[in-house]
Amino acid sequence: MPQVEMNDELMDAKLGEPLLSVARRHAAHIGFYCDGSGLCTMCECRIIDGADQLSPVTDVERNWLPQARLDDGYRLGCQAALRGRGTVRALTRAEELRRQLLAVINPPEGSTAADTMRPFMANVIMVNWQHIGTWPFNWLRILQRNGLTRFVWPVSNMDLFMRDTLRITERMLNGRTTVTVEAETRPNLLTDGKQEQDA
Ligand code: FES
Repeated sequence: MPQVEMNDELMDAKLGEPLLSVARRHAAHIGFYCDGSGLCTMCECRIIDGADQLSPVTDVERNWLPQARLDDGYRLGCQAALRGRGTVRALTRAEELRRQLLAVINPPEGSTAADTMRPFMANVIMVNWQHIGTWPFNWLRILQRNGLTRFVWPVSNMDLFMRDTLRITERMLNGRTTVTVEAETRPNLLTDGKQEQDA
């Protein structure tokens, strides 16, 4: 069984499961405004280790992420699915930005706020550049791929969307131990065999 170490926490995972699904099941700090439709990029993760255990970069990711960002190991959590049995180490963009911001507010010993502001701002600028850098063709391609209805209303399971959002928020506010990991199968968040299942 593959494993994912996300935001420094080890999580169980299933072959074929996207990183976003793993994160949502475990209430990890991750964004998913478009519910995995490939529209928002809020599920972006930096893959620290085990990139070869993931499915290849998709057209959706190429649509949003500049090559430099891909080269730095960033993937979209809703697109990158587990295809190998090794461990993948990842840091979500939401958590990465949160940690960078905390370092600006309270710089680690030996550094100043100016030191820690630099990587934070570089990350924020790159995130925004992702969206506006190839405008409007990225949006047109997504519109063509998803159709107008899914483009306007991308959430496919509002109940699950709200439950996961609340669980993640609760966990953020109350700490690591207050949210129970859901063990039930959630096939709607799997890739249904669209991604390569095994390396
Ligand atoms: S959840 Fe929106 S792009 Fe992945």
